Order: sequence, then structure tokens, then C-alpha cells
Amino acid sequence: MIEEKLNTVIALVENECSSIKTRVEFEHFKATISGPKGKLTEIMKLMGSVPKEDKPTVGKKINEAKGEIQKHLDRVLTEIEEVELLSRLGPPIDPTLPSPDSSKGCLHPIAQVRDQVIDLFHRIGFSVAEGTELETEYYCFDALNIPSDHPARDMQDSYFMPEDLQMDNVSKKNQERYLLRTHTSSVQIRTLLDEKPPIRIVAPGRCFRRDTPDATHSANFHQIEGLYVDKDVTLVDLKSTLDYFVKKTFGSSAKTRLRPSFFPFTEPSFEMDFYSPDLGKLSHKWLEIMGCGMVDPEVLKEVGLDSDQYSGFAFGMGIERIAMILQGVDDIRYYYQNDIRFLRQFSV
Ligand code: PHE
Repeated sequence: MIEEKLNTVIALVENECSSIKTRVEFEHFKATISGPKGKLTEIMKLMGSVPKEDKPTVGKKINEAKGEIQKHLDRVLTEIEEVELLSRLGPPIDPTLPSPDSSKGCLHPIAQVRDQVIDLFHRIGFSVAEGTELETEYYCFDALNIPSDHPARDMQDSYFMPEDLQMDNVSKKNQERYLLRTHTSSVQIRTLLDEKPPIRIVAPGRCFRRDTPDATHSANFHQIEGLYVDKDVTLVDLKSTLDYFVKKTFGSSAKTRLRPSFFPFTEPSFEMDFYSPDLGKLSHKWLEIMGCGMVDPEVLKEVGLDSDQYSGFAFGMGIERIAMILQGVDDIRYYYQNDIRFLRQFSV
């Protein structure tokens, strides 16, 4: 008798469960089964009148039935919870639809200028090379003929790492220290050791110096290095390549001049200035734009090239400096403050 009743309840639960859709319906239905006046509760009350010897078997049946019923209820509840979660999350997202936010992102103004410079050099056969921001003294200084008493090698001027630091991906010699590269010229050495001439590369990247930040200095800034090594590369190649770059960047009537300077890794060395009537407010003055020169024979020797056969030129410019001129920005610090009002002006 009890067993029949139990089977009826199980069948009922099985049947009804498929039509329960909401939590309210679920709670209501559950009460009709296992609530104080529920069908299962009523059956359990009959236990009292079951003869003692039948109690274990009947009790077992009841427990089995309870388990069966619970399984159905649990399944329905899980389904209801899933529906509730989905409705909280909203409709499924289709990542292929256009964004409801109409303001598009854009490249950072420094990245825009970097890409513009790379593109100009790309057109005349220069490819992009990369080095590492954490450098060893060898690539940053020694191989570039920079003597040990050079100011950049002083703790006060560059960011040196603790002596016991050992990086797996940047090998260093004993006694050597790591530092954050002070210029991208280290990429000259990495490339010269890796590749055979003809070499024509530009190397954009982040550099670091212990500068006190002001309108024109930042401890973190960006440079683009250029290197051309082949047979018979002359100063004419240097001058004409940089002329092309300056005219394309600052206006076709721009003029350039080379002023004698000194870098340990170029000989002769120059500062390049330019003057452009197309520059509005800045059109009346010569502006210094980069350091450059013919690759020093000492550097060629260091990387195993015969300086009687090969020659080359190198240059290095600050991307921020070019960006400030092109974008009319008078304080380098704006580039790093991430103020959307500033950045938005350069969205393209
Ligand atoms: N590395 C130099 C600097 O940071 C610039 C430079 C690069 C000069 C290549 C000559 C040749 O000032």
C-alpha cells in the first residue's frame, strides 16, 4: 500500500517537474510534496501504523523514494538557476557586432610617430630590428667603444641592476652588470653580431636615463636607431638618407645641416639640425633632431667586420622630440600622464 502511494508520488513528481519554469512554481510544488502537508510527508506519517517487522523494509522504500524525488527536484532547481543566471547576464554577447561605444581607441601619439618614422625608412629598404630593454654593459657600452669612465656608466646616470641578478634570456659575462638601456644603439651591436651586411635597420624602443623629469626630460623615453652597413657606404648616403627623412617628416622645403659632434661609436660624428618653413610657430629656427655619424672602425672590428671592406652610418633620434615638434606639444610629461583629454586630440 505504502509502496503504491510512493510510486504514485514519484510518477507525479516526474511528470510535473517538466512544466516547472520559475523558482516560485518550484517552491510551491516542492511544498506539495515534502512540506508539512505534502504528499510524501503524509505517507511518512503512515509509518506509525506499519507492523514492527515490516518497518525496516518500508523505511528503506521510503528512503529510496525520497532520494528519487530529490534527484528530480535538484535537476529542476539547477535548470531554474541557470535561467536566472542567464537573465542576470543579459543576452549573449556577439563579439562580431559593432561596439555600442562610439568612441574608438587609437594608438598613443608616441606610437603614431614611431610608426610614421618606421614607415618612411621601410620605403627605402630599412627593416625593423629589436633588442632588449634590459641590457648588458657589453651591448650598451663596451662594444660601442664607450670607455669605462663615460658618465653614462655611472650609477648616478643610468639604472643599473643588482650585481647578482641573472636573466635567462639576456646572457652576461662575469663581472658585467645589467642595466636598463640608455639608448637604442645597443641594437646596432646585436644586429651586427647576428646578420651579415648589407644591413639596413631601424630599431625603435624604450630607453631609460636617470633624468629629473621636466618639460623636455623624462627618465623613460623612446628612440629610433638607424644603421646601414655595406660596402662603400659614405657620408653622402648618410646625408641623403636623413634629408629624405626630414623632408618627408617636416615638409618638402626643409633644410638640414650637420654639426660636428662626438659619439664614441661613430667617426666622424654629427648632430643633425633642420629648419622648415612649413613648421608654423617653429619655422624660424634650426632645431636639433638627432645624433649621427659614420660607424667607427672600432665597432666594425668588435663585430668581426673588416673596416677596409665595410663601412656604414648610424643615427639615433628621440621619438618624443619629433612628436613634440609635429604635434605642437610643449611638455614631454603630457605623453605619460594618460589624460584622456590630451590623448583624444591625437585620435585618428
Ligand atoms: N645613441 C646616441 C644617443 O643616445 C645617438 C646616436 C645614435 C648617435 C647613433 C650616433 C649614432 O645620444
